[in-house]
Amino acid sequence: MSLKTQLLSAQCSTDLTQAAELLKAGEQVAVPTETVYGLAADASNPDAVAGIFTAKGRPANHPLIVHLGDVASITEWAMQIPDEAYKLANAFWPGPMTLLLPRAEHVSPVVTGGLDTIGLRVPAQPVLLDLLTTHQLAVAAPSANPYKKLSPTTAEQVMHGLGGKIAAVIDGGPCQHGLESTIVDLTKRPFRVLRAGPITASELSAVLGETVDAPEQHDTVVPGNVGSHYQPNTRLQMVAADLSDLPAPQPEKRAALLHFGEAPTRDDLVCIAMPDDAARYGQALYHQLAQADQLGVDEIWLAQPPHGEAWLAVHDRLRRAVS
Ligand code: TXA
Ligand code: MG
Repeated sequence: MSLKTQLLSAQCSTDLTQAAELLKAGEQVAVPTETVYGLAADASNPDAVAGIFTAKGRPANHPLIVHLGDVASITEWAMQIPDEAYKLANAFWPGPMTLLLPRAEHVSPVVTGGLDTIGLRVPAQPVLLDLLTTHQLAVAAPSANPYKKLSPTTAEQVMHGLGGKIAAVIDGGPCQHGLESTIVDLTKRPFRVLRAGPITASELSAVLGETVDAPEQHDTVVPGNVGSHYQPNTRLQMVAADLSDLPAPQPEKRAALLHFGEAPTRDDLVCIAMPDDAARYGQALYHQLAQADQLGVDEIWLAQPPHGEAWLAVHDRLRRAVS
């Protein structure tokens, strides 16, 4: 089935009212968040949420994050909420942190992929936050990409992947962080980060006054946290940061190179300079991979980013993106 996907403007109040009406009517609407664009549906309407899985081609047992307008609403979606949840929420919400808590009894298994836990976050993107509070909505929203593909950080990228499959996209400009939220499991001790993101385990630990674990390599602990993910269509390969192992030119072959510093002079390469600080690199990563993917090159080569805590989220996504 093909829909005409409307492009709505975050600057236009009638467009936003329309987005709210579509959501309340059970439609799927892509929304800007400060991390990546999300594909939203009314979290209290299981049929609407089921439509997210259809549009994305996502397996039904992969849980979704529910986005709320304020901290107080967590009691409607979760239970047995520890004090630490409020400490973290007060420090980092609205913001790019998802808290995993035991789900409230009424929550549909469609939302949680049948799990007894639920991921909750209050997003910082002002237009989305306003939509949630003004219309008293809670929306389930995974990243607005077809299953396993790159997460979109612009409305144009959402259209490219899901145009014709969803009712509308709200264009709120490029996302601030460009990588998905940090997911923190508060359902068992020690607390731990299940997915690295813009907020580091050290920042979480500092607020709680206790260590939050951050496994370097994330195991597939939940459905949805899979090994191959975030993939461009073009084969992606890592090369050394100093480009010392760059493959030699081959006849009739072109590659895109995402590099640091000065670009090498080679006719067979389309060179894309990447920022050298972790936050700006994270913001640019999916966007530049998507751009490179649309060049029609044979391969994408990406210079190995630096290591260290600030780069954990970048390395986590890259591990899954390489072919
Ligand atoms: O920044 C973000 O978190 C973005 C924006 C749209 O908010 N959302 C996002 O959603 O990245 P998604 O569905 O692409 O990734 C959410 C992941 C799931 O794949 C799963 O690994 C984990 O969050 N998750 C969600 N609910 C969970 C639960 N109840 N238990 C364990 N993991 C869960
Ligand atoms: Mg995703």
